[in-house]
Amino acid sequence: MKLLVTGGAGYIGAVVAQQLLNDGHSVEILDNLTTGHGDLELTGAVWHEGDISDAGEVLDSTFDGVVHLAAKSLVGESVEHPERYWHGNIVASLRLLDAMRAAGVPRMVFSSTAAVYGEPGVDKITEDLPPRPTNPYGASKLAIDHMLTAEAHAHGLAAVSLRYFNVAGASGALRERHDPETHLIPNILRVALGESTEVKIFGTDYPTRDGTAIRDYIHVVDLADAHVRAVRTATAGKHAVYNLGTGTGTSVREIIDAVREITGREVPAAESPRRAGDPAVLVASGDRAAEELGWRPQRDIREMVADAWNALQQFS
Ligand SMILES: NC(=O)c1ccc[n+]([C@@H]2O[C@H](COP(=O)([O-])OP(=O)(O)OC[C@H]3O[C@@H](n4cnc5c(N)ncnc54)[C@H](O)[C@@H]3O)[C@@H](O)[C@H]2O)c1
Repeated sequence: MKLLVTGGAGYIGAVVAQQLLNDGHSVEILDNLTTGHGDLELTGAVWHEGDISDAGEVLDSTFDGVVHLAAKSLVGESVEHPERYWHGNIVASLRLLDAMRAAGVPRMVFSSTAAVYGEPGVDKITEDLPPRPTNPYGASKLAIDHMLTAEAHAHGLAAVSLRYFNVAGASGALRERHDPETHLIPNILRVALGESTEVKIFGTDYPTRDGTAIRDYIHVVDLADAHVRAVRTATAGKHAVYNLGTGTGTSVREIIDAVREITGREVPAAESPRRAGDPAVLVASGDRAAEELGWRPQRDIREMVADAWNALQQFS
């Protein structure tokens, strides 16, 4: 298939583009490089530097689909400047959908997020839980999910939303390089590398096995594999939604221990109070993705840490 990957210069988008290329697809990338990197090597991909709002300049009827990862994704920024998320995520994605409709592009696989669920307080989050986002970032992604449902019903789009949990790891040189980096594993690795002095553990009094918050981490290579499957299974007139996680939670202390063990480095940790709005446990049920996409993540937390560490050492 001929596919446009938006956000392909970003952390996850680059790995998705790489796997789509490996699967034999023809891949073009549209990225405005606001948080992405123009130095990525993705052999065979065609690059377009530009905004998704102007996707009409790139899309035509030869495209079979769009894999839409481009987004603003900083929760804190979304609370302080929600308008950036309404424009950058919702309005820009609507313009992308308009361009797809005008060009007759039949399918979209969209990067949604666990943040649409808010703080559901259940052991495993299933797709049929009522979404209740607690910040504008999650709300902007949910609005796009709603857009896709309506677009599928009204205009026959084949749509898939993939709700990622906590993405980690690397694929060779393709690694996480966010600035600012808000994700736990790269920040702990930075301490292991000596680039920052200590890890802050936010909250040690949660009702969990060691008092720290538990999240569901998913290897970026496994995550990308779900996109390859979603592109194949997307069905005209249907909007499918899948949670992507391993179904297993890992605590903050367990991640720090894994980093100490794998890197053999000291990782000083300081205990801080809980952050507002941080739930105790967020773990996905992967049942629907397993049944309908045949998707089963293969890599555990140790592999995520090891791959991110190797990439950081070899390619930074
Ligand atoms: N990283 C995670 O753990 C996680 C979890 C859940 C969902 N997601 C979603 O996955 C997607 C990718 O996340 P990431 O971590 O790779 O982020 P990233 O910031 O590394 O990548 C996003 C890419 O999109 C590009 N971009 C942003 N706005 C654009 C626009 N208007 N037009 C064109 N390009 C634009 C950026 O330049 C960047 O290359 C995002 O949609 C994010 O919301 C990520």
